[in-house]
Amino acid sequence: MLVLGIESSCDETAASVVLNGKKVLSSIISSQIDDHSLYGGVVPEIASRKHLEAVSDVVFNALDQAGVKSEDLYGVAATQGPGLIGSLLVGFCFAKGFAFASNLKFTGVDHLHGHLMSVFLEEKAPNFPYVALLASGGHTSLYFVEDHLSYEIIGSTRDDAAGEAYDKVSKMLGLGYPGGKIIDEISKNGDPGKYPFPRAWLEKGSFDFSFSGLKSAVRRLIDSIPQDKIEKEIPHIAAGFQDSVKDVLVKKSIMAMEKYKCGDFALCGGVAANSGLRAELGKRLPKKGFRLFLPSVSLCGDNGSMIGCAGYYKFMKNKLASFDEEVYPRALFKLKKGF
Ligand code: KG4
Ligand code: ZN
Repeated sequence: MLVLGIESSCDETAASVVLNGKKVLSSIISSQIDDHSLYGGVVPEIASRKHLEAVSDVVFNALDQAGVKSEDLYGVAATQGPGLIGSLLVGFCFAKGFAFASNLKFTGVDHLHGHLMSVFLEEKAPNFPYVALLASGGHTSLYFVEDHLSYEIIGSTRDDAAGEAYDKVSKMLGLGYPGGKIIDEISKNGDPGKYPFPRAWLEKGSFDFSFSGLKSAVRRLIDSIPQDKIEKEIPHIAAGFQDSVKDVLVKKSIMAMEKYKCGDFALCGGVAANSGLRAELGKRLPKKGFRLFLPSVSLCGDNGSMIGCAGYYKFMKNKLASFDEEVYPRALFKLKKGF
């Protein structure tokens, strides 16, 4: 089954052709980072316009790269939400038009479902049920994943997402957007013990997260350092911040594995590209007898392949969308337990 996956929820216009939810035959990602970095974050109006300019080329390039014609496809899957409404509309409406014109099946994919499925594009995938940590720019949650389409939320962030905290701290330090990769790199040259930042464990046994206090602690520290001394301290601040995020994410993940008695664990979402987090989980989980599943770095950030993969599992169960379905900007995960 060949599925065309289209993603446009934030600042990447992406399309992929995926075979049987497993083999990525093509992946085209047109990033808007350069258009937004000037403003230190994504400007929604600019994002929608850029998606509109890019979407047609991105999709046809994905078909060309895969050597596939529209009539070879089984269906089209597009991100339906959550995300920026104008951005979602571009990809979702393009997908509807493409599917209608080519007489193909059509389905909407939840962006978070796409991230969760990204591990299934790798050769070795986790066995159900497993625990997944999805950490991105908009969401940070722990999931108990029962099968390709059903899950339970174990805990979620109560304020900022982990990636959002990275982006905000990077902005405070004048390091640019998006901040995750930059802080990850810079922190390799810093001493994480020089500035020990707080860890928000919340109530005993809670699987929720909170990163806004950490962000404020970084702000207060920056404000306390004289302007002419800050440059030298940046790697240490970055390392201390990353250590705090990593510590909470890793310990809560292990707690969830123990409580839910799972053997397999998956990390996904943009923050899953973090080298420190990947290394720490890679060290800590096997010591407890758990197996770690990581998407390759190119599959962590937003891409069309994960949408094509999640779409495949929806098509397998004949979960189709009608052409009058709408996009949704906010996460639906509090409302339902299946995609
Ligand atoms: O999944 P994603 O591409 O988009 C959303 O769905 O939000 O995630 C983007 C987020 C950004 O906040 C970015 O700073 C973060 O992922 N990110 C990282 C790294 N690479 C990207 N965070 C930490 N370390 C990284 N290496
Ligand atoms: Zn994402």
